Amino acid sequence: MTPISRSSRIETIGVVGTGAMGRGIAQIAALAGLKVRLFDTNPAAAGAARDYLADTFAKLTAKGKLDDIAARTALAAVSGAQTLAEFADCDLVVEAIVEKLDAKRALFRELETIVSGRCVLASNTSSLSITAIAAGCTDPSRVAGYHFFNPVPLMKVVEVIDGLRSDPAAGDALIDLARRMGHTPVRAKDMPGFIVNHAGRGMNTEGLRIADEGVASFVDIDRVMREQAGFRLGPFELLDLTALDVSHPVMESIYHQFYEEPRFTPSPITATRLAGGLIGRKAGEGFYRYVDGKQQVPPEAPAPTALPPRVWISKRHPQAHDAVQTLVTQAGVPLDTGATPAADALIVVTPFGLDATTAALDERLDATRVVALDALFPVVGAQRRTLMTTPATTRTARDTAHALFATDGVPVTVIRDSTGFVTQRVVATIVNIGCDIAQRQIATPQDIDLAVTLGLGYPRGPLALGDALGAQTILTILRNLYAVLGDPRYRPSPWLARRAQLGLSLTQCDAADTDSADDAHHHPHTSHPEEPSL
Ligand SMILES: NC(=O)c1ccc[n+]([C@@H]2O[C@H](COP(=O)([O-])OP(=O)(O)OC[C@H]3O[C@@H](n4cnc5c(N)ncnc54)[C@H](O)[C@@H]3O)[C@@H](O)[C@H]2O)c1
Repeated sequence: MTPISRSSRIETIGVVGTGAMGRGIAQIAALAGLKVRLFDTNPAAAGAARDYLADTFAKLTAKGKLDDIAARTALAAVSGAQTLAEFADCDLVVEAIVEKLDAKRALFRELETIVSGRCVLASNTSSLSITAIAAGCTDPSRVAGYHFFNPVPLMKVVEVIDGLRSDPAAGDALIDLARRMGHTPVRAKDMPGFIVNHAGRGMNTEGLRIADEGVASFVDIDRVMREQAGFRLGPFELLDLTALDVSHPVMESIYHQFYEEPRFTPSPITATRLAGGLIGRKAGEGFYRYVDGKQQVPPEAPAPTALPPRVWISKRHPQAHDAVQTLVTQAGVPLDTGATPAADALIVVTPFGLDATTAALDERLDATRVVALDALFPVVGAQRRTLMTTPATTRTARDTAHALFATDGVPVTVIRDSTGFVTQRVVATIVNIGCDIAQRQIATPQDIDLAVTLGLGYPRGPLALGDALGAQTILTILRNLYAVLGDPRYRPSPWLARRAQLGLSLTQCDAADTDSADDAHHHPHTSHPEEPSL
């Protein structure tokens, strides 16, 4: 621990590595009134970055988003350095150089001989351990992670990461500075993927697994996740945007860093597509094709129109039963309210975390007439519905069910049998991983939800999403998935299982930690990252 406080205000910042990330960090720092020094080993790069900032400020001024004086003041505050020796007066140096441990360690070692004892050294690494970078320094307590997202000025969240030997004051100073720059800081322990890249494993890996099982096409999975579950992008649109040359190695790296954790298992689908160059939007072809930069989406076939003669609805889930009954009544199709289905009735089940086959067998129903409707999100007033069949379901049963649930004009996606449809498996996986991040005390529940909404653009954070859909429902889905598939990928996090059973919010820390007057003492925000909560 250094005797010199690092909590004092940061006024001069050095940025090393002036590529995509370094430029963005320089931009928000200069606009927040800091003095900014730029250095890059490529002699032309620092100058190019300053020109880029001049250009960006001019564009912002032209759009009326920045006044002329502020633009000129900000640009005047940015200077290129010929050598690192010009960083001697920096209160903070942020590195955004090549993603290599040796290079980052060597840089920080050199900076230590130049800057004052109170200067904080921060790394923008997305995949390396902050503790490992700091271990190369004489004073590792001055090192912390400062993980911005691309493009920095638009992605308004930054992860502040404490390494094992980080002085909490270094992170506190970075938190304060993030706010001055108009960003929302979240604080994380030094664990692979920190918060955002850890929480982001659920959507992509489960989406890929569903596609790999032949349940639905890429475009159908995306449609369901967007229109039924309310996400801005489906997993394959997202993968096309980030491109597989970036996201496939990240999937592999996080999986291996957590020692082959089944929740993060990558997919052979992306490995093959990466090898074939179908990496995404920037290559003109990924999961979608792009013509003149425009995503090509195959049209959906119109819904069939022939309705079933009558419909029998499972009462296993009373709320879902009532919702389906509303739809059937609205469609003007007779209900079969018998204890068992009549011989000509279409049979509708509404399982949670089960496939249509298991649901049919559980209730001793005729699988040839069984269809399953996904009722995790409200089916009445929905923007899309998902229907699935058992392998024995007849074409007539499938098509009349499709017609039935599309009579009000809502598009219906028909998928093959899947343990938990599309939304149930993907959403439960997202919530479960978010819960496990909380369980591991990598960040506070509030910071987990903030990081995910701002960093991944999800409509809600994983914990709030679990609460909104019902923690008990999510737990049921996962337990059923685990029971049917026997895959530890779906084992519920203790954080979820305990809170669901106790009827607590998933955003709630242990009451004993939050009740007491000195609760901040046990808060992951302010406690030493490796200290157990007592
Ligand atoms: N691009 C992203 O989406 C993103 C997001 C978050 C974090 N990051 C991380 O930010 C860092 C930079 O990424 P980027 O996308 O801006 O890279 P980039 O390739 O655009 O820029 C890196 C710059 O660093 C310079 N450089 C390399 N080694 C150097 C050294 N030893 N000293 C000084 N300058 C050096 C290069 O000349 C280049 O200008 C990496 O650690 C990366 O993992 C990137």
